[in-house]
Amino acid sequence: MADLQATLDSIYTDILPRVGEGKVADYIPELAKVDPRQFGMVIVTVDGKVYRIGDADIAFSIQSISKVFMLTLALGKVGEGLWKRVGREPSGSAFNSIVQLEHESGIPRNPFINAGAIAVTDVVMAGHAPREAIGELLRFVRYLADDESITIDDKVARSETQTGYRNVALANFMRAYRNLDHPVDHVLGVYFHQCALSMSCEQLARAGLFLAARGSNPMTGHSVVSPKRARRINALMLTCGHYDGSGDFAYHVGLPGKSGVGGGIFAVAPGVASIAVWSPGLNKVGNSQLGAVALEMLAARTGWSVF
Ligand code: DON
Repeated sequence: MADLQATLDSIYTDILPRVGEGKVADYIPELAKVDPRQFGMVIVTVDGKVYRIGDADIAFSIQSISKVFMLTLALGKVGEGLWKRVGREPSGSAFNSIVQLEHESGIPRNPFINAGAIAVTDVVMAGHAPREAIGELLRFVRYLADDESITIDDKVARSETQTGYRNVALANFMRAYRNLDHPVDHVLGVYFHQCALSMSCEQLARAGLFLAARGSNPMTGHSVVSPKRARRINALMLTCGHYDGSGDFAYHVGLPGKSGVGGGIFAVAPGVASIAVWSPGLNKVGNSQLGAVALEMLAARTGWSVF
């Protein structure tokens, strides 16, 4: 493989003068405190090599990237039956939009917008108390990354519990349409904790490696999902992973990816590598500004693309 460390170093040189660009999420007060002048990036290849630059070891709030892990758990539990509860189409609306729920019978467009992720969380909760569902997700992510040190940041979860008014509205709306089986406060309790998972770029790239490697993690030998399911999760990330910025991300980067308002982006070069990048400043649609720029540089300099 081309010299990936040299490629990452060249990206770092080009990004460093711009570090601090974008605006940190402030609708979750705890995230507003994060210093925007940080940038890290890690590539883990399917042959088990790790390449890193910048703040690769600093744990950050993965927020919506957690939706990929919850989706994987939900598909494991109910398989294709999941699609009775949530769609598979890009929304063209903001990640926290409520507008389609009313005229689409409380069925969210896809599992990555907030409404869709809340429905997915409700599916994973079946047969569990909220605390157990949170524990199941944490164990799953630790298993995927082969790293027991991954934690949930309770302060971030509490902060969002106090201010997540839009999510409360989305969940109530879906419950009114009978698309939530559990009490709204229980589902949101789990959802806010999943979003508060705290991981470094390296932990995230390792945890998602199975999606680059036909469903199995070549570093741990764990078989996580079938090759077909890995392809399908990647397809959903490509079409819906950046909300109303998904088309733009596909155009500029050309890889499946999932963003979070903590400034992280997880991306997959199928058959080649998983990539995690983090820079807290966001663009107008709520995706990491420099994270997307760095991934565009990586795709251009390596030729990685699903097209
Ligand atoms: O529910 C929320 O609004 C946040 N916990 C997660 C949103 C998010 O990360 C959107 N990503 N770009």
